[in-house]
Amino acid sequence: METIQVKGSKYNSVIYVGERLENLAKLIPGKGVFIITDSNIDRIYGNRLPPLPKFVVNPGEQSKTLLRLTEIYRWLLDSGADRNSFIVGIGGGVVCDITGFVASTYMRGVRFGFVATSLLAQVDASIGGKNGVNLDGYKNIVGTFNQPQFVICDTSLLKTLPETELSNGFAEMVKHALIADAPQFNILESNTNRLNTCDLELLDSLVASSVGVKASIVTADERESGERKKLNFGHTWGHAVEKVTGIPHGQAVSIGMAFASQLSAEKGLLTPDECHRITSLLIALNLPVSIKANTNNIFEALQRDKKRCSNAIDFILLEGIGKAVIKSLSLVEIKEFIERKYCY
Ligand SMILES: NC(=O)c1ccc[n+]([C@@H]2O[C@H](COP(=O)([O-])OP(=O)(O)OC[C@H]3O[C@@H](n4cnc5c(N)ncnc54)[C@H](O)[C@@H]3O)[C@@H](O)[C@H]2O)c1
Ligand SMILES: [Zn+2]
Repeated sequence: METIQVKGSKYNSVIYVGERLENLAKLIPGKGVFIITDSNIDRIYGNRLPPLPKFVVNPGEQSKTLLRLTEIYRWLLDSGADRNSFIVGIGGGVVCDITGFVASTYMRGVRFGFVATSLLAQVDASIGGKNGVNLDGYKNIVGTFNQPQFVICDTSLLKTLPETELSNGFAEMVKHALIADAPQFNILESNTNRLNTCDLELLDSLVASSVGVKASIVTADERESGERKKLNFGHTWGHAVEKVTGIPHGQAVSIGMAFASQLSAEKGLLTPDECHRITSLLIALNLPVSIKANTNNIFEALQRDKKRCSNAIDFILLEGIGKAVIKSLSLVEIKEFIERKYCY
């Protein structure tokens, strides 16, 4: 097992990679503990959870709304939860976001922890203290910055994860390697078969390095004033693709990473060979690198991106594999690049 720390402004968070679900009891208080999970996790792992009061949400994004949260607040109140209570979220990114938000706001904040059950939650959503929910189709628009006390990343739970969810997680792992960890990129590149068959020994060490990248970036810049923006690599174009086509987040980010890599190559920051290695790795991990869609619609969605300042966008590019840079690019420049190179 590997232990990684995130140092937040209010609280620190300890991430246990390779710890098992059964050891959750060692990390939680003896009383006043409440569990939030989703019905898939409850169906598969319900009999392995500690016998504690439990709120089970429907799986998926539709549970991440303020309306659904009201039911959880009411349940906590009815069950006698007070300011000394502790909430544990057991599930993927949706359950982590819901739990972090509810725990940060119920009675002005109670302590909380996560058992991250999807690969995406293990390497991304459970780490870093952002807890957001959706409103009127805007993703994660209402939220808090608040670190969980602990995160358990039990990789053995990934055995039951559907294949597409596994590759969604790979997209964020590739992202972490590309922005800050060149050796990790080489390991991913040489082990795609073992990854696709969910080799647990390999995943334990790769999840730990991936968490390490995010943890150090978040510790340096918890509130995303600079360094943390690098975690948005692939997400500017990716979010716009996701909005227009409705494809899963990891797949959209993969397309976004291929786009940003090509843009980096065009600017002479990345060699054509590096760019080719990146797209080949994504394809080998069953991720798309392009999609048939109207690029004008995607560009319009990008223009509406909430991170836009005036006529420019902070775009994350690569200066070689393993090193991200933040560049302010004008919308005109991006549009010209799309028209020149990227019309599909
Ligand atoms: N807060 C953050 O910093 C942050 C970062 C990235 C993503 N997110 C959020 O995370 C969410 C996506 O997370 P996700 O991809 O984990 O989605 P998810 O929570 O919807 O999980 C995906 C699916 O896998 C199922 N599942 C999870 N673990 C399983 C397991 N071990 N075995 C079988 N099935 C399992 C779930 O029930 C669900 O159906 C989005 O809402 C996104 O906004 C948040
Ligand atoms: Zn993402």
